[in-house]
Amino acid sequence: MPLPAFLAVVIALSLGGCPTNRPASCGGKLDPNFEPTLDLRLRARAAETQIFDGAATRTLGFEPELISGDSARVAPIAGSYLGPIIRARTGDRLRIRLQNDLNEPTIIHWHGMRVPADEDGHPTAAIGPGKEFVYEFEVRDRAGTYWFHPHTHGTTASQVYSGLAGLLLVSDDEEAAAGLPGGDHDIPLIIQDRSFDADNQLVYPPHSGQMMDGFLGDQVLVNGQPSYQLSVATQVYRLRLVNGSNSRTYKLGWSDGTSFVAIATDGGLLETPVERQYVTLGPGERIEAWADFSGRSVGTQLTLESLAFSGVDIGMDGMMSGGAGGGMHGGMKVRAETAQSVSGQPNGAALTVLRVVVDRAEPETLVRPTTLSTFTRYRIEDAVNADSPRQFSVTMSMAMGMGGMGMSWGFDGRQFSETGVAANEIIPFDKLEVWELVNETSPMAMNHPIHIHGAQFQVVGRSVSDAYMAGWESVREGYVDGGWKDTVLLMPGERVRLLIRFGDFAGTYVYHCHNLEHSDSGMMRNLRIE
Ligand code: C2O
Ligand code: CU
Ligand code: CU
Repeated sequence: MPLPAFLAVVIALSLGGCPTNRPASCGGKLDPNFEPTLDLRLRARAAETQIFDGAATRTLGFEPELISGDSARVAPIAGSYLGPIIRARTGDRLRIRLQNDLNEPTIIHWHGMRVPADEDGHPTAAIGPGKEFVYEFEVRDRAGTYWFHPHTHGTTASQVYSGLAGLLLVSDDEEAAAGLPGGDHDIPLIIQDRSFDADNQLVYPPHSGQMMDGFLGDQVLVNGQPSYQLSVATQVYRLRLVNGSNSRTYKLGWSDGTSFVAIATDGGLLETPVERQYVTLGPGERIEAWADFSGRSVGTQLTLESLAFSGVDIGMDGMMSGGAGGGMHGGMKVRAETAQSVSGQPNGAALTVLRVVVDRAEPETLVRPTTLSTFTRYRIEDAVNADSPRQFSVTMSMAMGMGGMGMSWGFDGRQFSETGVAANEIIPFDKLEVWELVNETSPMAMNHPIHIHGAQFQVVGRSVSDAYMAGWESVREGYVDGGWKDTVLLMPGERVRLLIRFGDFAGTYVYHCHNLEHSDSGMMRNLRIE
């Protein structure tokens, strides 16, 4: 006869282990009864990186140390201060020991992964300098490009900006059967915009106006490298594009007009490849490309561009900035004075992301699959609230921020607090729900990539108010909404409907804007699944 749950817990604790469901009291401690497939230490620490000629750049990074498991599962991102890449299979058990060798608190969040709430890197789990947090969880997610980064409240943006971001690439049998390029033809590309000073140092924090808008750098780095170049053979590649920028949205298209063939989104493979002239990728989102260079001649060069789009730089940002005590009036002037030096490229500006050079001829046998994966499509009529979506609205309201009282982004007029959970933020466990995310904050409208922890969801509808149609039209064809998502971009004036079910773990997760300056300034709230 099985033991009653409470007895099992008592026995496990008395043996010095943690019960398998890892309640909060055991979170962060090593469980000797947990048998990891991969046991890894990640040391968060300061480093110096040679990015440009001349002075080295001060960066932060995760230094991996394999404790047990296959060493092929952990690899650096070539030539990068970002990383590492952790490779896992669905069903693996990961033990990852975060060692905080920074001089400030940190914690890791596994973006897109369905892990127990106390393994999720909630800001309240942050550990101080010199401390260790041991994550132990089973990989439940399907194959896909997941990533990890700090999730401390108020310093996520600066830590990610400095280089704390890695990849967790999950594979499974379905992916293996899809016939996709592998090995060195499977290339992760983390896109981030950055600004450097004359001494090659990363410029951060941004000016207070940029804290309100979100940081926008003056150049695009890929995998931490400026002017990124990819040398390819006349073959097919799988490009895993991660928007790891603090607040820049990209509209990605090939320079020669070749269509962008998307094969996966945040939560893994699509059902079938999708062809677009461009794809729209907000901060936190991932998209994977089937990039076929097999018809090209050696010597061909092309670029992946971020094409111009409109509607995101409404121009009210100067009014909203001003920082400590500056209120509604100080901002305009400060912004005008510093705009040149702080904000090189506005959101929506045309930018080159990377250059591809076809430098060798190799035969190709891979053909584009017609079927990539199968998964259950949620149906609105199956939702417990089919007729009354749970609504979350982006708001701008007066709140106590880091610089004192000022205007702050939030949801439904609320900002983050460690324990704050409003009535509409209590979510029933394992019930399919319709949610509606609303971004109508006129006239101070901005684009907001909304990210939800603890579940992957399906986007089922979008609409936009007439006043914002032009901006929306400049990006909408690039939304790839047919797959699993954990982050969804809302343009100004836009409403998104999605279907979501938290069927894995009860507990407290968060949802937030993945414009990291927004979430750090309060645009994050708890979700209590119960
Ligand atoms: Cu990628 Cu809650 O974050
Ligand atoms: Cu996340
Ligand atoms: Cu936002």
